Amino acid sequence: MPPRTSVPPPIRRLPLLVTGDDDLLDDLLRLAAAGGTEVELAADPAAARTRWLPAPLVLLGADQAQPCLRARLPHRPRLVLVGRAGQLDPGWQVAELIGAEHVATLPTAEPWLVDRFAEQDPGRSDGSGARIVALLGGRGGAGASVLAGGLAVTAARARLRTLLVDADPLGGGLDLVLGWEQLEGLRWPSLSGADGRVDAPALVRALPSRGDLVVLSWDRGDLLALPASAMAATVDAARRGRDFVVIDLPRQLDDAAVVALQAADQAYVVVPAELRATAAAARVVAAAAPHCAALSVVVRGPAPGRLRATEVARALGLPLAGDAAPRAGAVPRAGTGRGAGRRREGPLAALCQRIVADLTGVPATGAA
Ligand SMILES: Nc1ncnc2c1ncn2[C@@H]1O[C@H](COP(=O)(O)OP(=O)(O)OP(=O)(O)O)[C@@H](O)[C@H]1O
Ligand SMILES: [Mg+2]
Repeated sequence: MPPRTSVPPPIRRLPLLVTGDDDLLDDLLRLAAAGGTEVELAADPAAARTRWLPAPLVLLGADQAQPCLRARLPHRPRLVLVGRAGQLDPGWQVAELIGAEHVATLPTAEPWLVDRFAEQDPGRSDGSGARIVALLGGRGGAGASVLAGGLAVTAARARLRTLLVDADPLGGGLDLVLGWEQLEGLRWPSLSGADGRVDAPALVRALPSRGDLVVLSWDRGDLLALPASAMAATVDAARRGRDFVVIDLPRQLDDAAVVALQAADQAYVVVPAELRATAAAARVVAAAAPHCAALSVVVRGPAPGRLRATEVARALGLPLAGDAAPRAGAVPRAGTGRGAGRRREGPLAALCQRIVADLTGVPATGAA
């Protein structure tokens, strides 16, 4: 029996209330209860920082607006500045600077806020929104991008509306892995200004696509950094508008990669079955693990030193999600138009099918 990937426990992402004002907090807790949702609390920007981008909705109390600005918390979608009449600056300058989508003045905005809380679709936190998978290479050339492409193609073939996100600025472009470099559509540089709510259908329409697969990749220009806010907006739109999201991350985690890891339901680190690769992967794992609740290892052959997949996983202290040892001809070549995941047989294809099925419950196509 091949090792099974374990379905990650549902991740509950709750609205975040950021305020140190006890009266305001009481009001907001009452409104959240009326809207039927639980919330997370942070009294100040330091406490809010790690939950700021992953939270589906942030209500920022007027008392913490300036402190959050000073702490340089990034722009994010669905940020509401809330306070009582007289507490909020009438010119809404702070709201604009911090990127709030709305300003809610209490008590007038109470019914509106209850609606926002009630909108927090419990299905999403129970896992019925898009499943998000992040991939990391344990060392350079580990096979993370090929696995990302394979997962995305497999999911799309199973009729899951899929988004493949290339978040590695130095990776050379996932559209190349798929053989899609000629396809028309938007790429990161045009989207990287996105810091508000990205409209999911609009995002999908604008990106290069084939069937159920949509890809967000790089052009050949010189943009080399991805703003965390652009990633947050993309993940937010994708969670609402797609079924399956695959994010190919850089090994050197940047802020955008941290946002993606925090949003991911499951992350995999791909490691060739070699001693040095395992040692390098240990460093990648140490950097990634604090940001992701469910991190597993995929071991890739061949294993010249006969290192077993289970030994690699044990050395890294992670569950083994699978083994993608190649057979001759099973690994796609980049830029040939015969992209990752085209083959429906071989260990890589079998692994992709198993992961997609385990994470979504949708059976992926078997060997053609
Ligand atoms: N499962 C596999 N088995 C054997 N070889 C593979 C496998 N996956 C990928 N490769 C080979 O390794 C090369 C690097 O793969 P890939 O670009 O996916 O690695 P990566 O981890 O994304 O690397 P980078 O550090 O450049 O991001 C590919 O060109 C491919 O030929
Ligand atoms: Mg790569």
